[in-house]
Amino acid sequence: MRKKIEKIKSQLLSGLKKANTLEEVENLRVEYLGKKSAFNEILKGLKNLSPEEKKEIGPLANQTKQKIQKILEKKKSEIEETFDAKEEWIDVTAPGKKIKQGHLNPLSIVQRDIEDIFTTMGFEIADGPDVETEFYNFDAINMPDDHPGRDMQDTFWLSKEESREKGTGTVLRTQTSSVQVRYMQEHKPPLRIIVPGRVFRSETTDASHEHTFHQFEALVVGDDVNVANFLSVVENFFEKFFGKKIKVRLRPSYFPFVEPGFEFDISCTNCGGDGCSTCSQTGWIEIGGAGMVHQNVLESAGYKRNKYQGFAWGFGLERLAMMKYKINDIRLFHSGEIRFTEQF
Ligand code: DAH
Repeated sequence: MRKKIEKIKSQLLSGLKKANTLEEVENLRVEYLGKKSAFNEILKGLKNLSPEEKKEIGPLANQTKQKIQKILEKKKSEIEETFDAKEEWIDVTAPGKKIKQGHLNPLSIVQRDIEDIFTTMGFEIADGPDVETEFYNFDAINMPDDHPGRDMQDTFWLSKEESREKGTGTVLRTQTSSVQVRYMQEHKPPLRIIVPGRVFRSETTDASHEHTFHQFEALVVGDDVNVANFLSVVENFFEKFFGKKIKVRLRPSYFPFVEPGFEFDISCTNCGGDGCSTCSQTGWIEIGGAGMVHQNVLESAGYKRNKYQGFAWGFGLERLAMMKYKINDIRLFHSGEIRFTEQF
């Protein structure tokens, strides 16, 4: 009896090895464990055995049946798995799942565009610290302590009153002009740089004012640099930046670090100069300040007075981004609002 059981088991196992489909496995189950199977005959005959035989064969037969059932189940699930993998298909017409993509802040986009344009014109990109000494932010660029020009900017002072009195104060830089003398102390003319960067002013915010914003400074110094060079560089830049011809206009103005100094306007990119609500019907948009570098500034960088000439400007990056992308509130840039950045 024991042998019979072993034989059934080994026959089933070798049959199972050849089985490849669920149907074949099912057939084996019927053949070896089904009602009409030899195994079932054994189970049915158990009751006729002697008590000793019953004791031995009964548990063996039941255990074997359970084992075989387990093996069959295992085989079935193996077949199902390979079947699934083979039969899996992709519905190419199903709508895709949208993967959320990160976006650059428009300010970063504009900054990169500007850097690209100026590097192709042979400019270098320079940088300086956000936390700046009073010296580089003011004194070095012709704005000593008693200079009325300092009142033009509301400064975040980081140092105490005493150090301010000694002229050794620390500020959050109010302008990228702070990098001019820093850079010139390390480099000799001819030089051409732009300085894109963050600046800070203690101001109340509204749709066109922020306490933290960006400028990009330009500084060109050499033996023979004049206003005509300045105009040609800016015209070139704006044409590339906006992808169309832009008119520029200089108005006499005052900045301590330049002489002469200008207020710099470009023709309104919205109406082309005819007058609209963006430019308050004037046809012009104010972009920033510019001028011929003051000899005092060149001198504080260690250059000999009247040896070199240069021009400089400080333009607002937000203003340019707002014009390019028609953004109407400067506070959006730092809002952290995803619905805003998603659009760029
Ligand atoms: N630093 C000035 C400001 O923030 C802007 C400026 C004006 C920069 C004239 C210049 C310049 O380089 O020549 O208001």
